[in-house]
Amino acid sequence: MIQKTTKKLVVANWKMHGNLKQNAALLTDFVENLAHLTHTKVVVCAPYPYLGQLQNLLQSTHIAWGAQNVAKNEVGAFTGEVSAAMLRDFGATYVIIGHSERATAYCESDENVATKFVQAKKHGLTPILCVGETLIEREAGVMEMVVSKQLDTIINAHGAAVFADAVISYEPIWAIGTSLAATPEQAKNMHLFIRNKITNLNLDAANRLKILYGGSVTPQNAVQLFLVENINGGLIGKCSLNAQAFESICHAAEAAST
Ligand code: PGA
Repeated sequence: MIQKTTKKLVVANWKMHGNLKQNAALLTDFVENLAHLTHTKVVVCAPYPYLGQLQNLLQSTHIAWGAQNVAKNEVGAFTGEVSAAMLRDFGATYVIIGHSERATAYCESDENVATKFVQAKKHGLTPILCVGETLIEREAGVMEMVVSKQLDTIINAHGAAVFADAVISYEPIWAIGTSLAATPEQAKNMHLFIRNKITNLNLDAANRLKILYGGSVTPQNAVQLFLVENINGGLIGKCSLNAQAFESICHAAEAAST
């Protein structure tokens, strides 16, 4: 099916990089060079301690900001956790959920991810849910089954309607930080699969869902990827730490959506 959402979304995932000085330089550059985009929403997801800095430098601009994780609980004795309400306190409107780097290094289960997803929505944050397969799973041809199962944990617990106005980011694990992005064809097939899966369950949610591609997006491959049907933007790791590279990617998104 044809996606109804045409405005692109480009999300910077800074991961555990940055400091006050570097962040300020990057953010000032982004504001200067991305403020004029009208068909592309730009979001910066930084480590928790810098949310106040993002709020200071990005409020009253068109660029939104968010976090890279959120607690599944509301409030309480959960040492080291940061709640959705706290993210809202700092003006965050997006949060990345279930990134594979968390699943692998911190044993994040699909059930936790599902709870965090609805917790984010409950507090008015747009969840960016990461899904994707390993290289072994792709080589075995079971990538759609793997992604389907990741989505089913949320669908079975909360229904498909929760995907309305949410974001799914297809991030093949073999493509993250490897310089080996999925081909437009591989991405196209998976994005169509995801859109169709949600469409079969809830047409309204499918029409209001954005599906991003993440994994070694560069200024060079962004142009082709963003032209693919059902690719509504990108989740950008490494290239979001370089102002010129990130801005080129945002400009590619703008060109693809106009
Ligand atoms: P990458 O990271 O662009 O460095 O591959 C993408 C991601 O992990 O979101």
